[in-house]
This record gives sequence, structure tokens and C-alpha cells, in this order.
Amino acid sequence: MGRFDGRAFLVTGAARGIGAAVARRLAEEGAAIAAADLDHQGLVGLQEELDARGTPVLTRVLDTRSPEDVARFVAAAEGDLGPLWGAVPCAGIARASPAELMPDDDWAAVIGVNLTGVFFTCRAAGRAMLSHGRGAIVTIASITALGGQPGRANYAASKWGLIGLTKTLATEWGRRGVRVNAVAPNGVDTPMIRDGIPAHFLEGVMLDRTPLGRLARPEEIAAAAAFLLSDDAAYVNGAVLAVDGGLTAGFLTREQGADFAMKPSPTGSGAKA
Ligand SMILES: NC(=O)c1ccc[n+]([C@@H]2O[C@H](COP(=O)([O-])OP(=O)(O)OC[C@H]3O[C@@H](n4cnc5c(N)ncnc54)[C@H](O)[C@@H]3O)[C@@H](O)[C@H]2O)c1
Repeated sequence: MGRFDGRAFLVTGAARGIGAAVARRLAEEGAAIAAADLDHQGLVGLQEELDARGTPVLTRVLDTRSPEDVARFVAAAEGDLGPLWGAVPCAGIARASPAELMPDDDWAAVIGVNLTGVFFTCRAAGRAMLSHGRGAIVTIASITALGGQPGRANYAASKWGLIGLTKTLATEWGRRGVRVNAVAPNGVDTPMIRDGIPAHFLEGVMLDRTPLGRLARPEEIAAAAAFLLSDDAAYVNGAVLAVDGGLTAGFLTREQGADFAMKPSPTGSGAKA
């Protein structure tokens, strides 16, 4: 018995990265999958993989910024796969630059996909699940929704907005049976981070500041999302679960202070403590 046997879930950004990992994880636990993305080829690959394991699956190329297309896909998914039990809007983009130089288009694109597109997805899936009186949504925030980050005014604004959206939906829909939570990952080893962040910044800063000393694997974010979608999290609503290897647990890093402070004191008192 899987936790999601016979239940249909909608995943956007499912062609690769975290979205594909979420679709695979839910399928492994028995779910039927409605997968959407802009990337046709990636969806074909996912469909073949899920078909091969016998998972009922419906894929669609769409832009989550189109509320009509998203609503049509939710209706098609319910028609093909049965009533929706959950949704994970993973479609997201990053366009970094200093705030004073940020092009209007980069601001609009990131807010459009990461916030407005996620709202359209939550709204369409939420309408369906509210009509059934139960369901769960997990949004994909970021550690950049827990602090600021230079060069990422658009991304940070979109992810802080996403937390506000998640908590608001949790308060609106909780009594009607639909829970809404977020995961906030640190760097995850996907094309987004490999293509978008210079190796020296990854190695020298992100990993140094991360107590677990490595990026997350997409499967580790999928596991957290699966928990929040499942009945195991039946009383979890409006939460932001940091899946960050301990990054936000502290401030001093290995290179920038922790090594010094970890040495025994000259008097030896540290060694006796
Ligand atoms: N990778 C990380 O380090 C990291 C960390 C924290 C949060 N996140 C968030 O996780 C989510 C997934 O990121 P990822 O690393 O898997 O990225 P990714 O670039 O590997 O995959 C994103 C997917 O979203 C799709 N997509 C983009 N715009 C779309 C649109 N308008 N409509 C439909 N599909 C669209 C892309 O085609 C792609 O397949 C994003 O919201 C991202 O902000 C990623």
C-alpha cells in the first residue's frame, strides 16, 4: 500500500528538476500524475518513465501564467485521472542581476512565473479540491524567502510573496479541508542552480555556509513535499518547512568563524567543558 494509492496529483514544472522528482516520488507511492511544463521533450521523457511503471499519467505543455490553460488542465486531469487530491506548483525561473540594473522584463518574468503562475495553479487546483472537501497543496519557496539575497530582488520578492500566498490560502481553505504548506529549499542540484550560479560561489559560499556541506538532491525536496501532501501531515497547515541542510540554523560558517571558535581555548577550559 502506498500513501497515495489511487489519488491524482497535479505537478507543474514537471519536465525536470524538483518537479520531475516530485512526480516520480508521488508515482512511486501509488499516485496518478497530471504533469505540466513548457518543455515538451522533458514531459515526453517523464510520460515514458511513468507509463513504464504503470502510473496513470496525463501530460500537457502549458505556460502557468495562463489562467485559462491551467484551469483547462485541472478539468482535463480530473476527467482522465479522477478527483485531485493535491497539487505541487514547481514551475519557476530565476533571472539574477543587481536591482538597479534589473531589466523590467526580468522583474515581470520572475514575478509572473514564481508568484502569479503559482497563484493561478493553486486557485484552479484549490477550486477543484474545495469542491471535494479535501486536498493539499505544497508550494516551492526557497531560503531566499527567509532572508534577502544580493542580485535577486525579483526572485526574493516572488518567494516572499509565495510564503504570504501559502499562509493566506492555509487560513482561507483549512476549515474546508484543503491544507496548504511550503517547502523552502537551499540550493538543489538541478539545471536551475547548475546553469545559474557560478561554481566558485557554490563551492566557496553556499556549501561553506551549509552545515551538511552539500547541495540538496531533488529527491530530498520531493520527499519533504510528499510528507506534507500525505495524511502523515494531516495537522500541518500554513507551515514553511526549511529543507536546507541547516543553512538557516546559524550564521557563522566553517571558513568565516566556526573553525576558530571550535578550537579549545588556550587555558584548556574549552577542552574540559
Ligand atoms: N534548484 C534550486 O536550488 C532551488 C532552490 C530553492 C527553490 N527552488 C524552486 O524550485 C522550483 C523548481 O526549480 P528547479 O530547480 O527544479 O528548476 P528547473 O529549472 O530545473 O525546472 C523548472 C521547470 O519549470 C518549467 N517552467 C518554467 N517556467 C514555466 C512556465 N511559465 N510554465 C510551465 N513550466 C515552466 C521549466 O520548463 C522547467 O522544466 C522553482 O520554483 C525554484 O524557484 C529551486
